[in-house]
Amino acid sequence: SAMTQDELKALVGRAALAYVEPGQVIGVGTGSTVNRFIDALAASKIAIAGAVSSSEASTLRLQAHGIPVFDANEVPELSVYIDGADEIEPGGCMIKGGGAALTREKIVAAQARRFICIADESKWVARLGRFPLPVEVIPMATQRLIRQFAALGGSARVRLRDGVPLVTDNGQHILDVTGLTIDDPLAFESMVNNWPGVVTVGVFAHQRAHLCLLGTPQGVRTIAF
Ligand code: A5P
Repeated sequence: SAMTQDELKALVGRAALAYVEPGQVIGVGTGSTVNRFIDALAASKIAIAGAVSSSEASTLRLQAHGIPVFDANEVPELSVYIDGADEIEPGGCMIKGGGAALTREKIVAAQARRFICIADESKWVARLGRFPLPVEVIPMATQRLIRQFAALGGSARVRLRDGVPLVTDNGQHILDVTGLTIDDPLAFESMVNNWPGVVTVGVFAHQRAHLCLLGTPQGVRTIAF
């Protein structure tokens, strides 16, 4: 019988254990796929030293399993960073931030030697941009940034939760931008990073994946970039 998306997420969550060694401090991302990884790690016999987490949600889940969570500043370098993605393309560049954790995700990714992306096959795309691009912004800059995206053909709106702007772990807002064409992820990321008021753009090109474990009905496809 066909595997559900949840089963594919569990499959790649378990597959990522192959990249974790005892005694390491690892970087842990955010989202439903990473939750499967955290649960698999807790169930495994791999005694890691701890984790640096990219969100309050992942921190709580790690700690509930008895896995120590360190502040990013306490750990000089991480061997791996394991996280999901909203989209990943053949160069290893990603769109992330569907879970609003993109800023801390990019910080922890930058601290790791290797980024291992775990994703079900629905996340694999030829080109980034179908998934609405999350951008964390300082609220004071919102309207100007909406106009800057409009000049690129993008339609940006403030992400809401319960009818009011969602507030990130960092106390800021999220714009979700549709209608963009992202042909050159590195250049696009650099450009948007330079707009005043942008905290983090959800294109991960400078912090792209080194490896993707893609869950398919035929099993895990391992893609190196
Ligand atoms: C969190 O901010 C995102 O970057 C997640 O990595 C992304 O949304 C993937 O989440 P799922 O594993 O739930 O699809």
